[in-house]
Amino acid sequence: MEYWRGIFVFILLIFTSFSSAIKVSHDGRAIVINGDRKLILSGSIHYPRSTPEMWPALIQNAKAGGLNAIETYVFWDIHEPQRGQYDFNGNRDIIRFLKTIQDAGLYVVLRLGPYVCAEWNYGGLPVWLHQLPGIQIRTDNKIFKDAMSNFTSLIVNMVNKENLWAPQGGPIILAQIENEYGNVISSYGGAGKKYLQWTAQLAESFNLSIPWIMCQEPDAPQPMINTCNGFYCDEFTPNTNSVPKMWTENWVGWFKSWGEKDPHRPAEDVAYAVARFFQRSGTFQNYYMYHGGTNFGRSPGGPYVVTTYDYDAPIDEYGNRNLPKWGHLKQLHELLYSMERVLLYGDKADHQLQNNKTWATIYTLNGTSGCFLSNTDGYKDYNVSFQNNTYHLPAWSVSILPTCKQVVYNTAKVTAQTSLMVKKPNTAENDTDLVWLWLPEDIDDTIRGEGTFTVSQLLEQNNVTGGNSDYLWYMTSVSISKHDPIYSKQMILRVHTMGHGLHVFFNGNHVGSSYSSDGKQDFVLEVPVKISHHHRTNNIALLGSTVGLKNYGPFFDTIPTGIAGGAGGSVELIGNGNLTMNLSTNPWTYKVGLNGEINQIWAEDDIEWQYESIPIRSPLTWYKTTFSAPLGNNPVVVNLQGLQKGEAWVNGHSIGRFWPTILAPSDCGPCWYGGPYDPKKCATGCGLPTQNWYHVPRSILKSDNNSLVLLEEMGGSPFSVNFQTVTVGTVCAGVPMGDVLELECSSDSSISSIEFASLKPTNGTCGSYVGPSDGALLNYVQQACVGQTRCSIPVTPNLPGGQNGTILTVQAVC
Ligand SMILES: *[C@@H]1O[C@H](CO)[C@@H](O)[C@H](O)[C@H]1NC(C)=O
Ligand SMILES: *[C@@H]1O[C@H](CO)[C@@H](O)[C@H](O)[C@H]1NC(C)=O
Ligand SMILES: *[C@@H]1O[C@H](CO)[C@@H](O)[C@H](O)[C@H]1NC(C)=O
Ligand SMILES: *[C@@H]1O[C@H](CO)[C@@H](O)[C@H](O)[C@H]1NC(C)=O
Ligand SMILES: *[C@@H]1O[C@H](CO)[C@@H](O)[C@H](O)[C@H]1NC(C)=O
Ligand SMILES: *[C@@H]1O[C@H](CO)[C@@H](O)[C@H](O)[C@H]1NC(C)=O
Ligand SMILES: *[C@@H]1O[C@H](CO)[C@@H](O)[C@H](O)[C@H]1NC(C)=O
Ligand SMILES: *[C@@H]1O[C@H](CO)[C@@H](O)[C@H](O)[C@H]1NC(C)=O
Ligand SMILES: *[C@@H]1O[C@H](CO)[C@@H](O)[C@H](O)[C@H]1NC(C)=O
Ligand SMILES: *[C@@H]1O[C@H](CO)[C@@H](O)[C@H](O)[C@H]1NC(C)=O
Ligand SMILES: *[C@@H]1O[C@H](CO)[C@@H](O)[C@H](O)[C@H]1NC(C)=O
Ligand SMILES: *[C@@H]1O[C@H](CO)[C@@H](O)[C@H](O)[C@H]1NC(C)=O
Repeated sequence: MEYWRGIFVFILLIFTSFSSAIKVSHDGRAIVINGDRKLILSGSIHYPRSTPEMWPALIQNAKAGGLNAIETYVFWDIHEPQRGQYDFNGNRDIIRFLKTIQDAGLYVVLRLGPYVCAEWNYGGLPVWLHQLPGIQIRTDNKIFKDAMSNFTSLIVNMVNKENLWAPQGGPIILAQIENEYGNVISSYGGAGKKYLQWTAQLAESFNLSIPWIMCQEPDAPQPMINTCNGFYCDEFTPNTNSVPKMWTENWVGWFKSWGEKDPHRPAEDVAYAVARFFQRSGTFQNYYMYHGGTNFGRSPGGPYVVTTYDYDAPIDEYGNRNLPKWGHLKQLHELLYSMERVLLYGDKADHQLQNNKTWATIYTLNGTSGCFLSNTDGYKDYNVSFQNNTYHLPAWSVSILPTCKQVVYNTAKVTAQTSLMVKKPNTAENDTDLVWLWLPEDIDDTIRGEGTFTVSQLLEQNNVTGGNSDYLWYMTSVSISKHDPIYSKQMILRVHTMGHGLHVFFNGNHVGSSYSSDGKQDFVLEVPVKISHHHRTNNIALLGSTVGLKNYGPFFDTIPTGIAGGAGGSVELIGNGNLTMNLSTNPWTYKVGLNGEINQIWAEDDIEWQYESIPIRSPLTWYKTTFSAPLGNNPVVVNLQGLQKGEAWVNGHSIGRFWPTILAPSDCGPCWYGGPYDPKKCATGCGLPTQNWYHVPRSILKSDNNSLVLLEEMGGSPFSVNFQTVTVGTVCAGVPMGDVLELECSSDSSISSIEFASLKPTNGTCGSYVGPSDGALLNYVQQACVGQTRCSIPVTPNLPGGQNGTILTVQAVC
């Protein structure tokens, strides 16, 4: 029996490994899979920025949106939080993520890094690296290289065991080593060049038999393929003509930092960038991000990157389609696949049209052809003649003619549905009924100066915390007698901190707090302190705090934080005129983290919370409540307005840092899609809190009795906290004659009313269409759509008023 089973398994293994082995290589034009050039449309989804329960739907949504590959980084810091201790549970289960992609039938691009940037804390490197004596990061340094080689080998071996590389029949067709090193290599001099060579050798030593990429690295040694990252990559050429033109990061939007607005990159512009890239012989393109997701816990870098990582990606933070972007790009993807052979094997010829901003590109292959007509003027439309026809080319757009005869798609003409998302109150509970409990953070030990070790030096904060907490206590005491020349009843305590935040306690009292406005500056806090008659010694307890560590730039790892002594920080007492006492070389006692963190009070059941006289505006206070999950399946968010700054946990999972009192600047300009994008244009949320709403993944919720624990660091009120769900509110589309108008609500709702319908060109935007609706047409659209989850209307002259109609615009409410 065992014997036969063994044979069977053996045969099965041979069968699976031989029948599905995928051969991946490349030539000067494209990635070649099993002998055929392949057009690859990929999208970034970072596994720790969602939950395993969300992965299948995110990946199916990416597939439905026309992607054939998913890209992810590997995040070293979450997998090896302490040196030599590994974690692959929950949303750290990279193997499960890769298998979920495989099950959906998509390819994987695996960027091993292990430096990833990604607006992730410390660029994805574990902060304990910083504590290794003699280490220099991302350069020719044995300690770093050994650690990097250890970790990348570990991941490669895990993936090997699961047969996930393409030659093993798995989905991974491309791998990356390092990341954007070309942006910083010059700062590292000769050591940087040596390190670059070494990273390439490390990659090759894995014998993976798939192509390796190095993005933003013009010096990439062969056979590493250097690739482009940016808002536009049509002008990019790789460093040798034996490799394809590849775009590893098409930034579909941008990330957000505390104090900034919501960035939006118009769908027209993203589509334009993609179409231009394929017009100009690109063959591999990856959206960064396709789903941005959430920076849970203390994962965001920056410093000061916020908790949402929505990125204005085609799938929003919560997993909903971001429309029209998702739909407009899906149409483009389908068209590009339909032209795959002519684009990847055809000859390419460019012809100038009306002027040097308008060009035609014709791909021809064996008598078939495919054409692109482009207008790179950011503001002006042109009418161009091409092959005896006249074509209208809107500003900053590309028209695609899959057989060179008829325009099937123009990047500036969006026919896909627009969805405006709305938030709805919790259906299971009235949030005004939330019962709050509280506890003060226990600081009895630290205000007395009790910590874990003492040295006569002010230490750089990360080097002490190893990244295990945002908080570090610096504690010392000074004796000042009435006879000391410096003595006065009231003195000034002056602290120079490298950031990001500081709370000052003197003889047990909280006497001052301050934060750097953007996390990039050091600052000096001066507070008056009363020298007590009752204390022979005066206790000074300083709580340093960080809000995400830098993740980008040369030597980003060495940027000091906290009251960093020799690295720029200092503590002084000033009295009696301007006499100064330098406390920097006092004995300083240290303690990492708050007691509430050390005791994980968000996860403990047997803690006695207090329920009387809930304090507000009280720094270092913990709050707790229980709540019922909103009914249904729509994503859940919690509004933390009223709180000031801190971190939130739901059922023991950190849903991230919050800081709703930080407002975005109040100047939002108009949004014109044309011309080169930069994250300042088309932003929204001006004058509003940078982030009020925080994602609570459904998968961490039970139906009832869920706990929400808040650490309020600065002092706030929990009484306005409320849970809501996110769903599709208003939907609109505008579709020209000959096409089909499609509208869809979320799966659990249907169209309840039609607010606008017209067949004439219409001003306005979704949610605010103006002008008269045609009554008969409105009636017709109501008949077709109201009560339906989705509806389609062919736009033909047979519609009421259709004889003279040009474009059907509809606005409906779900
Ligand atoms: C961090 O601490 C280690 C050991 O205490 C020391 O060797 C190293 O120089 C420190 N690094 C920085 C950047 O302070
Ligand atoms: C690499 O891993 C080995 C064993 O797994 C361990 O002994 C060694 O200390 C590690 N080296 C580094 C630099 O982490
Ligand atoms: C890779 O292949 C080379 C040459 O075939 C061999 O010497 C080396 O041991 C292999 N390395 C690994 C990690 O399998
Ligand atoms: C395009 O034409 C304008 C005006 O004739 C000229 O100034 C410009 O240099 C040209 N640009 C290119 C890229 O040829
Ligand atoms: C072009 O046509 C020839 C003859 O029909 C055929 O052999 C060849 O494979 C075709 N080339 C491509 C790239 O399809
Ligand atoms: C293009 O042609 C149309 C139709 O003839 C005309 O209405 C429009 O003004 C022209 N646009 C430009 C930019 O020349
Ligand atoms: C354009 O018209 C000319 C003259 O009628 C004709 O010779 C030519 O073949 C036409 N070109 C195309 C691409 O139809
Ligand atoms: C919420 O409060 C309203 C009005 O006070 C009440 O009608 C409703 O039943 C309450 N809902 C729940 C879920 O308790
Ligand atoms: C202390 O120094 C500050 C700045 O140098 C000066 O403005 C102030 O007058 C001085 N105070 C005394 C009492 O000397
Ligand atoms: C305080 O003393 C330390 C250690 O001697 C020194 O590095 C620092 O510059 C001094 N600070 C001031 C403000 O003089
Ligand atoms: C649209 O706006 C333009 C310019 O503001 C105006 O001339 C036109 O009448 C408007 N059309 C409609 C249908 O309101
Ligand atoms: C279409 O427009 C023309 C000219 O404005 C008008 O004469 C005709 O009656 C219209 N047709 C319909 C069906 O509205």
